[in-house]
Amino acid sequence: MSGSSQVYRASTTAPVNIAVIKYWGKRDTALNLPTNSSLSVTLSQKSLRTHTTASCSESFSGPDSLILNNEPEDIQSSKRTQACLKHLRSLREQLEAKDASLPKLSKLTLRIVSSNNFPTAAGLASSAAGFAALVRAIADLYELPQTPQELSLIARQGSGSACRSLMGGYVAWRAGTKEDGSDSIAEEVAPMSHWPEMRALILVVSAEKKGVPSTAGMQTTVETSTLAPARFNEIVPKRMAEIEKAIQEKDFETFARITMQDSNSFHAICLDSWPPIHYLNDVSRAAMSAVETANRKAGKLICAYTFDAGPNAVIYYLAEHTHEVAGVFRSVLPRLPGWEGEFAEQIRPNEYGSLDS
Ligand code: ADP
Ligand code: DP6
Ligand code: CO
Repeated sequence: MSGSSQVYRASTTAPVNIAVIKYWGKRDTALNLPTNSSLSVTLSQKSLRTHTTASCSESFSGPDSLILNNEPEDIQSSKRTQACLKHLRSLREQLEAKDASLPKLSKLTLRIVSSNNFPTAAGLASSAAGFAALVRAIADLYELPQTPQELSLIARQGSGSACRSLMGGYVAWRAGTKEDGSDSIAEEVAPMSHWPEMRALILVVSAEKKGVPSTAGMQTTVETSTLAPARFNEIVPKRMAEIEKAIQEKDFETFARITMQDSNSFHAICLDSWPPIHYLNDVSRAAMSAVETANRKAGKLICAYTFDAGPNAVIYYLAEHTHEVAGVFRSVLPRLPGWEGEFAEQIRPNEYGSLDS
């Protein structure tokens, strides 16, 4: 096909990841570099996922655009989205410079259309799946040879947590030490196949947009929390090493303890910020009690809660304890005012490209 009407197009999906060691704080807001490393589990795309199509054509005019969940999103004033697009275009330009027969896609207007099949901006990592999908869709459109790890560096600039959604299984985001951020990238700690019994139960307590977006909240914490420096410099580095060992050894009790401690540490520095940031509500606290009840009944840690920047709970547990965990939640949650109970999902972690594609 030739002529100016040809539309080049690539579509992809990306999963959500839920951190067990939380990223909450930037040391460089322009490059989106974190104050600490973090670690997450990538969830299956069968339940929560972003679907994104990127297209370009000589027949498109005007600025690049993004339609998110059927609404136009202002990406012209989003420095972080612009940084992703600029980086991806320059990689395409390098290909075009080497091979004159390639169409000059880098010169064309981009149109991106994306949708999340779960609540956006509600503390369920939509920015993670969203930017991972955006970067992959454009990288596919441009036929870039970069590895997921190299693309993680670009996705990180869109939203920090997004760098971890380019890989499956158990994924670390290394904070890095370089000023230019070139070593602040995601790395697979273990594939899902290493510990495939892991399960996640998602309790959607509220699908509403959070009051304080992650970017703004973590900035307030970095500027005002007196507890945060100890978390960034001492607590998290120690926990990263411990939880990586627990994953390697498939030691669920250690994994569960650190997961809950780190979620609580993150929400503690939120509360220690000024003005204080509240993400948890009474239903969240009831979910924490339910986990404690299940663990007490079992006489050991069989499940762990974690909360991102919102009231929604994610419960990690092993498949062998599905009935005990589900049983406790079934009996506790329906009695709670404010709990709708319709969104509870059991999700397997995802291994990129094998489970779902
Ligand atoms: P969440 O807890 O859902 O990650 P954030 O406050 O971190 O919430 O980020 C929400 C923002 O991420 C949205 O307002 C939007 O700008 C961006 N975002 C969410 N989904 C997508 C998507 N599919 N494509 C591009 N950007 C997205
Ligand atoms: C609580 O990655 O959404 O989910 O980089 O500003 O876009 P930006 O923030 P974002 O923050 C995620 C915070 C968290 C913890 C985590 O996912 O590690
Ligand atoms: Co986010």
